[in-house]
Amino acid sequence: MKLIIDTEAATLTVEESGNRQTHGLYTKEAFELLSLQWLRVGWSLRQYMTFTWQGLPVLQLPEDLLRLQEAVHRIRPTLIVETGVCRGGSLLFSATLCKAADRGRVVGIDRHIPAQVRSAIESHALSPLIRLIEGDSVSTAVVAEVAGLVEEDDTVLVILDSDHAQEHVLAELERYSRFVTPGSYVVAADGIMRDLADVPGGSAEWAFDNPFAAATEFLERNPEFERAPPPWPHRESELTENVSYWPGGWLRRRP
Ligand SMILES: C[S@@+](CC[C@H](N)C(=O)[O-])C[C@H]1O[C@@H](n2cnc3c(N)ncnc32)[C@H](O)[C@@H]1O
Repeated sequence: MKLIIDTEAATLTVEESGNRQTHGLYTKEAFELLSLQWLRVGWSLRQYMTFTWQGLPVLQLPEDLLRLQEAVHRIRPTLIVETGVCRGGSLLFSATLCKAADRGRVVGIDRHIPAQVRSAIESHALSPLIRLIEGDSVSTAVVAEVAGLVEEDDTVLVILDSDHAQEHVLAELERYSRFVTPGSYVVAADGIMRDLADVPGGSAEWAFDNPFAAATEFLERNPEFERAPPPWPHRESELTENVSYWPGGWLRRRP
């Protein structure tokens, strides 16, 4: 595909498979085409590895965190379950939202939690809101431990951000979706992998082996869930789509 930006004519021309289409540069269509390329270039340069939350690295795109904040503000979960702790920044982000709402706690699961990450989380002021579980997220023992932490009247939101192979994400979806409260969400993070197969650092099989594909397969078997990103609470813009690493990843349990 060729994208030709002509700032003088204020156009964006797309050439693909012998077709040629020109959009106004300052249009929703151009914004969406450019955003996808911006995501791809940024990912290859590890833009997502340049952010911290409360001092700990958080491997997310800021817009995804802002949209997560909007969803949490509306749903007011009492329990946020996250697979994939890494350096701990995303757990602190969720715990910050719980603290601000004066409601909720966070469970973080990772197959390996290095001592310095554990120590950084456990010495943070938000640590009373955070429970760490070390182990394979799809193991019977870990899922049982999480189940033991879910209270009957909890409002639960789940974020899956560990191993992004389709098989693993599907296994996580099958195991963790049962905790999700009607009207709340399970997020299969990093569906953007399907669009990164050909960028530097990407991998050819990501075109089909990715969290987006896992979510699609899960939805086929679980009609009580629907693909539905949280509505934007504020929009004074013609734009309608998230610029996101989580395309198709917000799965809502129908109320
Ligand atoms: C993308 S990082 C998580 C990033 C983190 N959520 C953040 O936003 O900063 C993925 C993490 O998943 C963990 N992981 C990979 N496979 C796993 C598995 N089977 N069970 C639990 N954790 C796993 C890795 O150890 C790694 O720390």
